[in-house]
Amino acid sequence: MKVLVVGGGGREHAICTCVAKSKKVTKLYCAPGNAGIASLAECVGIGAMEFDKLVEFAKDKAIDFCIVGMDDPLVGGLVDRMEEIGVRTFGPRKNAAILEGSKAFSKDLMKKYNIPTAAYENFDSYEEAVEYIKKGTFPVVLKADGLALGKGVLICNNLEEALEGAKEIMQDQKFGSAGNRMVVEEFMTGREVSVLSFVDGKTIRIMTSAQDHKRAGDGDTGLNTGGMGTFSPSPFYTEEVDEFCKKYIYQATVDAMAAEGREFKGIIFFGLMLTPNGPRVLEYNARFGDPEAQVVLPRMKNDIIEVMEACVDGRLDEIKLEFEDNAAVCVVLASDGYPVAYEKGKLISGLDKFDTVDGYYCFHAGTKLTDEGIVTNGGRVLGITAKGATLKEARANAYAATEWVEFANKYMRHDIGNAILDV
Ligand code: AMP
Ligand code: GLY
Repeated sequence: MKVLVVGGGGREHAICTCVAKSKKVTKLYCAPGNAGIASLAECVGIGAMEFDKLVEFAKDKAIDFCIVGMDDPLVGGLVDRMEEIGVRTFGPRKNAAILEGSKAFSKDLMKKYNIPTAAYENFDSYEEAVEYIKKGTFPVVLKADGLALGKGVLICNNLEEALEGAKEIMQDQKFGSAGNRMVVEEFMTGREVSVLSFVDGKTIRIMTSAQDHKRAGDGDTGLNTGGMGTFSPSPFYTEEVDEFCKKYIYQATVDAMAAEGREFKGIIFFGLMLTPNGPRVLEYNARFGDPEAQVVLPRMKNDIIEVMEACVDGRLDEIKLEFEDNAAVCVVLASDGYPVAYEKGKLISGLDKFDTVDGYYCFHAGTKLTDEGIVTNGGRVLGITAKGATLKEARANAYAATEWVEFANKYMRHDIGNAILDV
């Protein structure tokens, strides 16, 4: 089977690592890929949003199976385009990817189908949003409706901040057209958990849990990022939480999408908050998390292609997902200054060591191969993942491995997984 993976970050490197292990795969391409993925797949210089070129490429190479890793092409309808030319493709079609593509849509869906989430209102008008905010309590959460690289969420502590935030999103269009609509949402407290799942339109299979660290700085300070590190499983995802989510959230979401005529096939990522009143959905994503995939996929025992084919074919009920009974921690090595301004093009040394040890992974996020060697090419540069028998052991292993690689302006958080140290 000839497989094409679309995307070029740490998540796609983790996906390609699994795909490359599949017995069914004879040839693996990745568009656009990155310097790390290049050791597993033939990287093709086509961007994830260049649909015409991707479709041409798939035809030309007679691709049998396509996996879309990123949110933008999913929301833009790449799966539909691939299906039109008969390429079996893993991921939701455009009408289902709206689950991630529009926060207003997902909030309305949850309200209609009684799926537990924060109270909210959607606004198309700035003036009406302001009137509503003035009558509300604080903190309050403002969310740009569309995709905004995970940055379109503002937590506002008082009226002044909220008015400024509403202006940024809706009037100044800081997040572009994503801010044409805005969700104003109740502020919730609690621990966050990421739960990824495979879905075939009817059946849902939950993967092992994970927790991300979204803020740039130690102690959850600084700006929101794409994610600075993860651990899996989350010890806070208890059986009680699992039971609640199975009863009120997971299947309910899949059934709600089907009832709306938006059959969802692919990955649903449930961003949950474990509030004092029980689990609530913070957000849905229509793809693997990044860097959640970097701790979940290395622990998966199944052949990923078998699972993904079952999703596409609507026979996921035949599959039993299995995960190793261990733990994994991922620490992101970023360029100092991320997520605002940072330099690129710094030579990276020490990458070879990861080829020689089991249970350690160096997932490339923003790297590029040049004549001098592999250099930094993004804010998040590498995701260093290590397994261990326990979370504590995995954490110690991952931090030890962050010392193996060096590049100028290397930056990381030092408290990834600290929450698990006392559990
Ligand atoms: P989202 O992109 O919707 O997951 O939001 C990004 C981050 O903002 C989440 O991971 C939470 O840390 C925070 N957040 C979002 N919605 C809320 C809420 N209603 N209450 C408190 N924090 C929130
Ligand atoms: N790590 C969060 C996300 O992928 O959206």
